[in-house]
Amino acid sequence: MEIIFNRRSVRKYQDRPVEADKVDRLMRAAMQAPSATNQQPWEFIVIDDRETLVKLADFSPYAKMLPGAALGVIVLEKQNMRAPLFTEQDLGAATQNLLLQAAFEGLGTVWMGVGRGSEREAFLTEMFSLPESVKPFAVIAVGYPEDENANKFVDRYDETRVHYNKY
Ligand SMILES: Cc1cc2nc3c(=O)[nH]c(=O)nc-3n(C[C@H](O)[C@H](O)[C@H](O)COP(=O)(O)O)c2cc1C
Repeated sequence: MEIIFNRRSVRKYQDRPVEADKVDRLMRAAMQAPSATNQQPWEFIVIDDRETLVKLADFSPYAKMLPGAALGVIVLEKQNMRAPLFTEQDLGAATQNLLLQAAFEGLGTVWMGVGRGSEREAFLTEMFSLPESVKPFAVIAVGYPEDENANKFVDRYDETRVHYNKY
């Protein structure tokens, strides 16, 4: 699928908002992901307020693109799910779905990891006064790429990583 091969992390954006119907499709794509026992352990905070994006950038030293983004999306992991061993995998699938839909919509994104029990988790929990029922899993910056060819193919295929029938 072309979108899978062309999606790249995009860290520079146009000063242009993302239309509400596109934001809606990003959320729908994320929630369309597969999940263990169909537990759907996700919630999202969509941030389009500039001041909040500036403050959000302090969650990590590697989040400097956030103040220039149209949106930040915080992917939240719901706690006490049926299949807690697999919630991280479910959220990875939801996050990737969002990234791929964004690329399809002509948008650029960066996935920023939070890390269980990390300082980043504590920062976000405090900043958004999150209840114990949710923990931040990832932050995604979203915006129209400054370079319209930013989503472009790099070949990462490595045949030595593929094993047939035995390791
Ligand atoms: C779990 C995870 C955490 C990441 N954290 C960051 C981050 O904190 N800041 C950042 O700029 N990029 C981050 N990235 C993006 C990676 O750097 C990027 O996906 C990788 O270099 C491959 O480049 P590409 O996305 O353009 O294909 C993260 C990606 C993943 C999957």
